[in-house]
Amino acid sequence: MSLMLWTVMGYLLGSIPFGLVIARVLGLGDLRRIGSGNIGATNVLRTGNRPAALATLLLDSGKGAIAVLLARHFGGETAAILAGGAAFLGHCFPVWLGFRGGKGVATFLGTVIALHWPLGLAACAIWLLTAAISRISSLSALMAAALTPVLAWAMGRADLILVSLFMAALIFLRHRANIARLLDGSEPRLGRKSPR
Ligand code: G3P
Repeated sequence: MSLMLWTVMGYLLGSIPFGLVIARVLGLGDLRRIGSGNIGATNVLRTGNRPAALATLLLDSGKGAIAVLLARHFGGETAAILAGGAAFLGHCFPVWLGFRGGKGVATFLGTVIALHWPLGLAACAIWLLTAAISRISSLSALMAAALTPVLAWAMGRADLILVSLFMAALIFLRHRANIARLLDGSEPRLGRKSPR
């Protein structure tokens, strides 16, 4: 398959809005009208349903990882990088939701784990450490996103700097409202439920 086809495959996999589907199937409501309005695991957690949030986290990260692994197996490393970047884009801008998707954090982590697992584990560790200290999901995501390109360089994976920089830049853009709340001190902490 050509690189273009692997990119399209990655985009289509990434565009499956698992959080939205899970919340709807479980009768938790329309995530876009709950909490931050985001379709990711953090917002599913605000419904109070932890298993649903965990399932969203695993499926949203898994779709990025599967896109990379499939593309690498059949198309090689360049196809894997393109498919991972496209899966991330698919999550953020899914055609099925009028291109209004999520913030990309779980898909970013799954993609990076599959591209280079030590880098992915380091990104997860940064997320977890920041979350343990701050209890703020968005801040943890911003820290992990910002440091991943630096770590890619430090780990000698120059081929992953561009794709991780691209994803980090988009994560920052998608977190504009979170950044404003972080700056004025009103960003909610993890575990706080949101009224429907
Ligand atoms: O993974 C998304 C997270 O960083 C922020 O989510 O719902 O608090 O905007 P949310």
